[in-house]
Amino acid sequence: MKDTATKPDLHPNLQGLRIPLIGSPLFIISNPDLVIAQCKAGIIGSFPALNAREADGEPPLLEAWLKQITEELDRHNQENPDNPAAPYAVNQIVHRSNGRLERDLEICAKWKVPVWITSLGARVEVNEAAHSCGGVVLHDIINNTFAKKAIDKGADGLIAVAAGAGGHAGQQSPLALIREIRSWFDGPVALSGAIACGESLLAARAMGADFGYMGSPFIATHEANAQDEYKQMIVDSTAEDIVYSSLFTGVSGNYLKKSVERAGMDPDNLPSADASSMNFSSGSSKPKAWKEIWGSGQGIGDVKDIVGAGELVDRVAAEYKAAGKRLAAEFAG
Ligand SMILES: Cc1cc2nc3c(=O)[nH]c(=O)nc-3n(C[C@H](O)[C@H](O)[C@H](O)COP(=O)(O)O)c2cc1C
Repeated sequence: MKDTATKPDLHPNLQGLRIPLIGSPLFIISNPDLVIAQCKAGIIGSFPALNAREADGEPPLLEAWLKQITEELDRHNQENPDNPAAPYAVNQIVHRSNGRLERDLEICAKWKVPVWITSLGARVEVNEAAHSCGGVVLHDIINNTFAKKAIDKGADGLIAVAAGAGGHAGQQSPLALIREIRSWFDGPVALSGAIACGESLLAARAMGADFGYMGSPFIATHEANAQDEYKQMIVDSTAEDIVYSSLFTGVSGNYLKKSVERAGMDPDNLPSADASSMNFSSGSSKPKAWKEIWGSGQGIGDVKDIVGAGELVDRVAAEYKAAGKRLAAEFAG
């Protein structure tokens, strides 16, 4: 039987986890194999809908991915009634340049996606699509103002993307951000930014988050759709090897310095770019940002090997439990 790691008053689609952790969506990298491994290991697995890209004229790959994930997790649950898989999530980029959004919402509603993660813009109609099929929406934000807007527009919960997170990270300390949110919001909140071990996950829970939200360590897993050099660079790098720049997508984010050097640029002297250069349309001519310039958060000092996603979750779960016991003993003593 799985531990009930999450609060009982959370939405049912956010319950039944082994540890309170969400494997965050990673552009290009997250695929059905990674999501299935994360969910079977007992954490919420996720992928960006935009990762499922079919060639022109082919049926939507997103539909095929949702079918594969649903069937595989159903099979697992039938074979392991005492150890069911965690729910999965799909990430929608709600930016005006995402021309597929409407179609992808319809497909996700049809497949009754249990958890919807929205990024880069809160929109009422996206929340309505999720609620129409019983889904729960977590919207990612980098400050308290965006958090309030997201809840006003109908999101059920928040993902606080604090300083040090991989990809489009915020600049605020997790300590400040989570406390500002918790001063007015008692719904579901996940905290992200450099969480790569069980101790940090416990810290996120202690600060008031319901979940940790962890991305970069999953890049260095067998299932991840990333080049071997990228996986090894995650293993070999530490927080000092990360640069925060807006140059590559128009929005500030954290990237591996060594990948910037490989692309012929000096990571310590990068010019900035403006947000109007952001583009998520399919076939966008700027894939360089993620294909050649590799994103990563600051927490990767904890990543020592390329392992299976299930093994990574096992490590974090063991650390989380040990850290919790250690602290509980201190409080009891
Ligand atoms: C390579 C990479 C790609 C990402 N792609 C997405 C994405 O497509 N959608 C999204 O909402 N977040 C994306 N993120 C952000 C993550 O979902 C998450 O906020 C972040 O990884 C958490 O910080 P951590 O990497 O330190 O754990 C990406 C992050 C990385 C490192």
